[in-house]
Amino acid sequence: LMFEWLLIPAAYLLGSVSCAIITCRLMGLADPREQGSGNPGATNVMRIGGKKAAGITLLGDMLKGFFPVYLANVLGMSPSLQALVGLAAFLGHLYPMFFGFKGGKGVATSLGVLLGFSWILGFTVIGTWLLVYKLRKISSLSALTASVLSPIYAWFILGDKVIAGAALVMTVLLLVRHKGNIRRLLAGEE
Ligand code: G3P
Repeated sequence: LMFEWLLIPAAYLLGSVSCAIITCRLMGLADPREQGSGNPGATNVMRIGGKKAAGITLLGDMLKGFFPVYLANVLGMSPSLQALVGLAAFLGHLYPMFFGFKGGKGVATSLGVLLGFSWILGFTVIGTWLLVYKLRKISSLSALTASVLSPIYAWFILGDKVIAGAALVMTVLLLVRHKGNIRRLLAGEE
């Protein structure tokens, strides 16, 4: 089916919709690219505008990853196609064509994509994020831990090489996007 492949560019376009930038604009808040950490993501929107704005950002950025993958999943598309759709949404968030290809770090969108692959996988990764956050209260550390474990979880829970591979690709890109956070974590400054 030809239309199945259209889900890949559609997912990229959806991923390109930065909920942080749009939420802040609509709520009359500062541009998240110019305040706090400068990252257009839920964590930085929390710093700038508090819980409500951050919650909307988190939900929106998760949904744009979740929805196209879930659609691919329920339409019975192959794991390879689901993986490509998920990666497209994730890449849209990191390199959004509507915002000069300068996007976020990918935490919320990757969670949405993983939920789209499988509820149990997604909730295991979210549970890991919450657990690390409870222990250390650092958003980036929670995200890095959850993300590093996600391909391993995918492998053990789903036993699918392609899905685990897609999770691994997201992890690698997420780590690259968190270079500054990792440096600060190692220096004890995060
Ligand atoms: O989840 C994004 C977080 O990992 C890092 O965001 O703004 O603290 O760099 P920030």
